[in-house]
Amino acid sequence: MSNDPNHGRGSIGHLRAICPLSQGKSCGNRFVMTSGKVTPATVRAMKSRGEKIASLTAYDFPMTKLLDEAGIPMILVGDSVGMVLLGYPDTTHVTMAEMEHHVRAAARARPRALLAADLPYRACDTVAAALENAHRLVRAGAEAVKAEGGREILEQVRAIVHAGIPFLGHLGMLPQRVLEEGGYHLKGKNHFEREALLADAAALEEAGAFAIVLELVSPPVAQQISKSISVPTIGIGSGPDCDGQILVTHDLIGAFPWFTPKFVKPRLNVAAQLRATVEQWKASI
Ligand code: KIV
Repeated sequence: MSNDPNHGRGSIGHLRAICPLSQGKSCGNRFVMTSGKVTPATVRAMKSRGEKIASLTAYDFPMTKLLDEAGIPMILVGDSVGMVLLGYPDTTHVTMAEMEHHVRAAARARPRALLAADLPYRACDTVAAALENAHRLVRAGAEAVKAEGGREILEQVRAIVHAGIPFLGHLGMLPQRVLEEGGYHLKGKNHFEREALLADAAALEEAGAFAIVLELVSPPVAQQISKSISVPTIGIGSGPDCDGQILVTHDLIGAFPWFTPKFVKPRLNVAAQLRATVEQWKASI
């Protein structure tokens, strides 16, 4: 088997060309893969069919493989890697080289899931930088790229989409702006913020985004955005009425116990189980 993470991937355009619109079966809210590759078109079709889109983060080979085996249709190599794996205080420290390293590891799992990756801090400052960095992530194995922002990055989004690279938007609380914002605050609480979010979502859809992450958006506003655009919204801390939900996997499984966002109810306590197992083993030798 080839060690090349891009083996068999070809260009994104090629990938899209060989993949039919939907190759999964709906089973309640769980998307069960049958065969074939999930594409941006698959994700969009899920919204049309009213199927919830469950998305999670992964930054390496085993996690990507496990999430894929569990039937997650979209996996994100998020720049949250900086906080939950690399020990940075926020995502503004994450570099392109670090993202490429983790995208390569995740891509080696060759998931059926659509593998999206974050353009990290300042990677999208100009159209030229956005294009160059999006291509770098695709060369590392990403099948779609995500960047934070709305109308202020529209030229960058258009250029990325024009180059044939699927684009995932990200609106609401933008973690890469946490220093300017002075924390992680809910967005859409007043008329001005609500109108800005609606306009940004419409602009990203028009520019060709195949889906939009809504982070910490006031739930009624997230619902309104989800109804107003045809591409799926993927919520995080934005209430139940988005077309899908995304979480940082470490938060879901309790693997980063030193901070858990208020909106997450961990389903496992991996940290406690790991400590207990190690203590038992230590005592047993
Ligand atoms: O970096 C990340 O993991 C993200 C998701 C939480 C949406 O952007």
